[in-house]
Amino acid sequence: MITQNGSRNGKIIIAPSILSADLWNLGQDVEAVRVAGADWLHVDVMDGHFVPNLSFGPATVKSLNGRAQLPLDVHLMVQRPLKFVESFAKAGADFLTVHIEAEDDVKEALLTIKKVGVKAGLSIKPDTDPARIQPFLDILDLVLVMTVQPGFGGQSFLPSSPAQIKAVRELIDQSGRSIFLEVDGGINAQTAREAALAGANAFVAGNAIFAAQDKAQALHEIRKSATI
Ligand code: DX5
Ligand code: ZN
Repeated sequence: MITQNGSRNGKIIIAPSILSADLWNLGQDVEAVRVAGADWLHVDVMDGHFVPNLSFGPATVKSLNGRAQLPLDVHLMVQRPLKFVESFAKAGADFLTVHIEAEDDVKEALLTIKKVGVKAGLSIKPDTDPARIQPFLDILDLVLVMTVQPGFGGQSFLPSSPAQIKAVRELIDQSGRSIFLEVDGGINAQTAREAALAGANAFVAGNAIFAAQDKAQALHEIRKSATI
């Protein structure tokens, strides 16, 4: 079956996640994946509350902005996203994705993101009912399906993920809108295909790219397997 916005015949997005980059050599790592054909750069923001870890903030996005020469796909794993939307927009985020499970009002967060001129994404954790995204589809540019529990890189793709991706794909197709369906967590050349077959068209990969001996080859393999 060929779906309107699915990966079949459409553009595949590969978004390396800098969570797994070598921070001593961040600029070189980013340049390596850009030259290898990365489409976006994924930046994970963690607040130690929504997830039990801390990572990057607006200063990181600001230093990547322009220099990375890639759209910045910022994933807010934070309890109160509204507090940070403006500073990440100013820092140069191209996409800002909030979690439906966060504390702030989801609609208000998404509308605030749009108001500051940034593309709006909504993410669901592995145990969240995909039907919950339905009321927000008319304002979304991206849905991010977590394929691991958020918080850490290098985990394994959860076997429950394809069913959740399929359900989101159906909702997106029913909406008739062009919305990216991004997957995040444990994506490698094997799991990228499973996710693509379920309807994903944007693929975040941290460990599989940045821990690889040959980052370019790892990226090409993910793209090849995601192209169905
Ligand atoms: C996990 C983050 C991911 C992470 C993915 O909470 O949202 O973006 O970097 O890393 P891998 O690809 O190593 O699972
Ligand atoms: Zn992420």
